[in-house]
Amino acid sequence: MRQTKLVQAKIRTLFNRNIITLLYENCSLCGSLTVRGIAKIGEEIITMTKLQAKNIVKHFDHNGTSVIALGGINLDVQEGDFVCIVGPSGCGKSTFLNIVAGLEKPDSGEILLNGNPISTPGPDRTMVFQEGALFPWLKVIDNVEFGLKMAGIPKDERRQISQRYLDMMQLTKFADSYTYQLSTGMKQRVAIARALAMDPEILLMDEPFAALDSQTRDLLLVELQLIWEKTKKTIIFVTHNISESVILGNRVVVFKNRPSKIKKEITIDYRRPRLMEDENLQKYYHQIVEELKNEVIAQIKDENP
Ligand SMILES: Nc1ncnc2c1ncn2[C@@H]1O[C@H](COP(=O)(O)OP(=O)(O)OP(=O)(O)O)[C@@H](O)[C@H]1O
Ligand SMILES: [Mg+2]
Repeated sequence: MRQTKLVQAKIRTLFNRNIITLLYENCSLCGSLTVRGIAKIGEEIITMTKLQAKNIVKHFDHNGTSVIALGGINLDVQEGDFVCIVGPSGCGKSTFLNIVAGLEKPDSGEILLNGNPISTPGPDRTMVFQEGALFPWLKVIDNVEFGLKMAGIPKDERRQISQRYLDMMQLTKFADSYTYQLSTGMKQRVAIARALAMDPEILLMDEPFAALDSQTRDLLLVELQLIWEKTKKTIIFVTHNISESVILGNRVVVFKNRPSKIKKEITIDYRRPRLMEDENLQKYYHQIVEELKNEVIAQIKDENP
């Protein structure tokens, strides 16, 4: 669990001998300092890139043949960004997210978090999957607390944190229920509460709403936007659903068919909370469909040679 405070330090640059103010995050547990931003003259803070994917290449062996899933992914994600990734089935979206999470290793390239290379899983990146992957033998509140317990957070403190996130996800009444007593949508909300309770630097979401009915999904789409505005979390969200990407993303990143590269990044500069039925979002929807069309055709041809 990160326990950090922001510290300012004035330094003289070697380049032009000007004095600049650096903003550090100081971890009270391990004492590490991470540069988080630069305060210019007038104290305007320039946000540092949160996550950088540099030329990520990944192949898998399929019965003796090599399949290149990722053919060189380059992506910068800024602090507080909400990035949605769309692309044809099998193009490597989940593989990319797994590499960011440290669950898979790339063949080449690197992932930098706050400028530091990462290669293993860590509490700074939590993942929400399509199926919540909750523990059926634990109560809802104990599921939310699980990661905090593993991180050695004292009982009182972790109860306080988990109650806050259950409250945020409107699940307070179900804190003592078991997961079999919840609907699919409620289970997904527990999974999101559990991920947020870890206070990760980046929340990674792999089609978290794909198994939900459309009414529950529409509600969660609004809730997730409100939570994002409240927590200012950096989020990378993979989806097959173009409308979902337009509603959620500040940016929608379109992956090409295998071997994947980024084909296009589309900025969605539109007020929030965005709703499914908002016709003004149609132009973004069509722009993404246009980018995806040929990639999906290429993917179908690949699978039916
Ligand atoms: N562990 C693995 N072993 C072998 N091949 C794999 C493995 N994981 C992924 N692949 C292959 O890598 C490619 C990319 O898979 P991935 O699951 O990342 O795609 P995706 O874009 O998430 O697909 P979908 O949209 O269907 O979820 C596919 O061809 C898949 O078969
Ligand atoms: Mg996938």
